[in-house]
Amino acid sequence: MKVLVIGGGGREHAIVWKLSQSRHVDKIYCCPGNAGISELAECINVGDNNFEELIDFVKYEWIDLTIVGPEAPLSKGIVDAFEKEGRKILGPNIKAAQLEGSKVFAKDLMRRCGIPSAEYKVFTSYLHAEDYVRMKGAPIVIKAEGLAAGKGVIVAETVDEAIDGLKLIMKDRAFGDAGNRVIVEECIHGEEASFMVFTDGKTILPMVSSQDHKRVFDGDNGPNTGGMGAYSPAPVVTEKLESIIMEKVMRPAIKGLQSEGIKYKGILYAGLMIKNNQPYVLEFNCRLGDPEAQPVLSRLKTDLIDIASAITDEKLSNITLEWKPDASVCVVIASKGYPGKYEKGKVVKGLDDAKKMNDVFVFHAGTAFNNNKVVTSGGRVLGVTALGKDIKDAKFKAYEAIEKIHFSGMHYRKDIADKALKC
Ligand code: AMP
Ligand code: GLY
Repeated sequence: MKVLVIGGGGREHAIVWKLSQSRHVDKIYCCPGNAGISELAECINVGDNNFEELIDFVKYEWIDLTIVGPEAPLSKGIVDAFEKEGRKILGPNIKAAQLEGSKVFAKDLMRRCGIPSAEYKVFTSYLHAEDYVRMKGAPIVIKAEGLAAGKGVIVAETVDEAIDGLKLIMKDRAFGDAGNRVIVEECIHGEEASFMVFTDGKTILPMVSSQDHKRVFDGDNGPNTGGMGAYSPAPVVTEKLESIIMEKVMRPAIKGLQSEGIKYKGILYAGLMIKNNQPYVLEFNCRLGDPEAQPVLSRLKTDLIDIASAITDEKLSNITLEWKPDASVCVVIASKGYPGKYEKGKVVKGLDDAKKMNDVFVFHAGTAFNNNKVVTSGGRVLGVTALGKDIKDAKFKAYEAIEKIHFSGMHYRKDIADKALKC
C-alpha cells in the first residue's frame, strides 16, 4: 500500500522509518519531509495546511492511508476534510483535537470528568487576571489558551514574572489569537513524564512511557523548547502508576468526550506531573510527542500499519502491542540560538559514520539539501536515538554517535536521561 505522512520533523522521520519496515508498505510519501526522510520517502511540496491540494494528491497517487504528525493540521480539521472525501487518515477530528488546540477546552473537560490536574481560572480581561495573580501569589503558571509552539506557558517564580507573562500574552499579544483567553493555574512540583496511547475511541492501548527534557540547557535551565531529548521507559511511571494513569486520566478523557458526542481516534498524549505517586495532567496533545516519538517508536515491534488500520477501522481490540525490552535514549542536536533566533544552512558532517553504528538511528528534524550536502534548516536539527540493554547503555551509544557528528554552532544537552539513572 501507499502511505502519506504529514510533517517534516524528527517525529515524522521516526514514523517514516517505522513505516519503511512494514510488510504492507510499498511506497511512502512525506509532506514536506526533510533531508533524512527523503532517503526513505518521496518528499512532496504541498503546504500541509492546503487540504484541497493534499486530497487531490492522495486521489491522484492512489494513497491508501495518511498519517498526520503535527498538531496544526489536526486543529484545522485535516481529518474532517479527508474523511469527507472518503480518504483514510490517522488522527483525531477537529472537535477531538480541541483537547490540544484549546487549553480551556481541555481544562474544562478535566474538571467535568474528575481528571486530576492543577486548580485554575480562565481570564479574558487583563485586569482581572492581574488581580487574581496578586491574590494567589507565586509560584504560579500562566498559559495562553491556543497553540503557541510550546512557548505559551510561563512557570512564574515571582508575581512580577507572572504579570510580565500576562502582559506578554494579553497586552503585547505575542501569540496572537492563541492568547485571547489565559489560564492562570496552580504550580505543581514533581517529576514530569509523557504518556501516550493509541485509541479508536473504544479500545485504548498504552504505549511505553517516556520523558522529555523541555529546557534548553543542562540541569533543566534556560527557556522551554519543543524538547531537547527524551528517553523510554521513564522509571517514574511504574506498572502501578501506569494503571492509575489509564484509570484516572486516559479512560475518563476518552469516555468524557464520547459522552459529549466526540469520538477520539488516533494518538492521545498526556503531559503529566507525578507527585506523591499520583499523576496530574499538565496538558493533552492530540498526536505523538516530539522527541518522545523517536525513543518510543524505536522500541515498537508491532507493525505501525496494523495499528493505524485498526484505529481507522475501529478494530483496535484485535491488536496486542509488542515492544522491545531495550531502553531508548534520544538526544536532540539544535542550532546555536534555539529556541530563539538561529542561523540556517550549516553543513552537517559525520552523518554516515553515526548511522553505521549498531542500534543508532539518526532522525532528522531541521535538515535540507544544498548542493547535495545536508545542511541545517531548523532549530532542532537531529534526534540521535539509540537502543541499549538499559538507559545507561542507550545513553552511552547516543552520545558516542553524537561525537561523530558536527556542524557549526551545534548545541545539545549533555545530561539527557541522567534523571532516569538517579531513580
Ligand atoms: P504545557 O505546554 O502545558 O505542558 O506546559 C509546558 C511546561 O510547563 C510543562 O512541561 C511543565 O514543565 C510546565 N508546566 C505546565 N503547567 C504546570 C503546572 N501547573 N505546574 C508546574 N509546571 C507546569
Ligand atoms: N515534547 C513535547 C511535545 O511534543 O509536545
